[in-house]
Amino acid sequence: MKNISLNIDKVAGFVSKETIAAYEPQVKACMETLENGTGQGNDFLGWLHLPSSITAEHLADLKSTAQVLRDNCEVVVVAGIGGSYLGARAVIEALSNSFQWLKAKQDEPIIVFAGHNIGEDYLFELTEYLKDKKFGVINISKSGTTTETALAFRLLKKQCEDQLGKEMAKKVIVAVTDAKKGAARVTADKEGYKTFIIPDNVGGRFSVLTPVGLLPIAVAGFDIEKLVEGACTMETVCGSATPYAENPAAIYAATRNELYKNGKKIEILVNFNPKLHYMNEWWKQLYGESEGKDGKGIYPSAVDFSTDLHSMGQWIQEGERTIFETVISIENPEHTLQVPSDNENLDGLNFLAGKRVDEVNKMAELGTQLAHVDGGVPNMRLIIPELNEYYLGEIIYFFEKACGISGYLLGVNPFNQPGVEAYKKNMFALLNKPGYEEESKAIQARL
Ligand code: PA5
Repeated sequence: MKNISLNIDKVAGFVSKETIAAYEPQVKACMETLENGTGQGNDFLGWLHLPSSITAEHLADLKSTAQVLRDNCEVVVVAGIGGSYLGARAVIEALSNSFQWLKAKQDEPIIVFAGHNIGEDYLFELTEYLKDKKFGVINISKSGTTTETALAFRLLKKQCEDQLGKEMAKKVIVAVTDAKKGAARVTADKEGYKTFIIPDNVGGRFSVLTPVGLLPIAVAGFDIEKLVEGACTMETVCGSATPYAENPAAIYAATRNELYKNGKKIEILVNFNPKLHYMNEWWKQLYGESEGKDGKGIYPSAVDFSTDLHSMGQWIQEGERTIFETVISIENPEHTLQVPSDNENLDGLNFLAGKRVDEVNKMAELGTQLAHVDGGVPNMRLIIPELNEYYLGEIIYFFEKACGISGYLLGVNPFNQPGVEAYKKNMFALLNKPGYEEESKAIQARL
């Protein structure tokens, strides 16, 4: 079976292959630091060998809980934010029919997301939508105290109990949280919800292969065994036994760091399949929170092509030359659709008649790559044979491993996110949260 692969041929005019090859000792040192747990953030390395440590019993437990939700709910609301949200959404959207509401006809629960914003209209409209529905909730929060998620869950819990009664609500509310700490744990224990634990040593943005991602993905009807299998393959392929030049995570980490050193401060993750929009979002969080600190870090940006060629294409082609692209390229789409011939040819598209839509897309991809390289944008390609659970598992682990290596190459702790606290402190002070009295006074004086 083929694996995902990385092609860096189109960075050659910007940084040489020899320079990338010369990274080998540094990259190996970073990989050893990860393996030996001797680097910064070493209490958050639970993701490193997570795929191969997932047991059949654990997957069976997740699948049987997912089945309870699938059997009893028309809609399942997945509440979470950041690392407790993006991975599940990325996989579910990548695998779902683009017109998800068609599912209602197939007797499958529709998955919706909440707890990732504080939009009053969003939450109002959600509660309206759920009014006549049998719905369940997966409440995901490692800390158990994140305001966005806790606020949404408070609303959802009440609505679920009001609509279904307390006993039924207990059956369709599941918590994914810390083993002991936090309000989500306290509530789950008191109410008797089924719970899954987020391991202490796995940080939010590295947690998609824990119940944080696996439970919602299973509820959506996708094969979590295959997802984990794909991740396991990459755990080996990106592991220390693989020679440097054949290790895609090592080469990706080295190449992006070398481009960064050469003034390419922004990486744009590109897809040519709209189903990957949330994979872009997941990746942005993974790299943004892991590397953006100590006044350093590549700025992770993302676009959906060809859609965004009609918005951001101009900037990418001719704007400031501080960018490089990493393109996720899917070799084979799931479906076949040919462009029909038309006798009148009023739209002038008969030159495409008989071609598959994907052939047009592939030429857009190739044409874009060549144009952007000509325009001074180095281009890497991550080639994915097909969009399915197995390869999504490979993509996830590949990016996680590369991120750990890349953060250490950059000289930061890739596993903390101290900067995220600043807005929370101000928000709590402004809302007069108990315990923030001093901060409240200080912030009021600044207004
Ligand atoms: O990656 C991270 O650590 C964060 O994005 C968290 O996942 C996010 O802030 C949500 O935190 P929690 O799961 O504690 O609610």
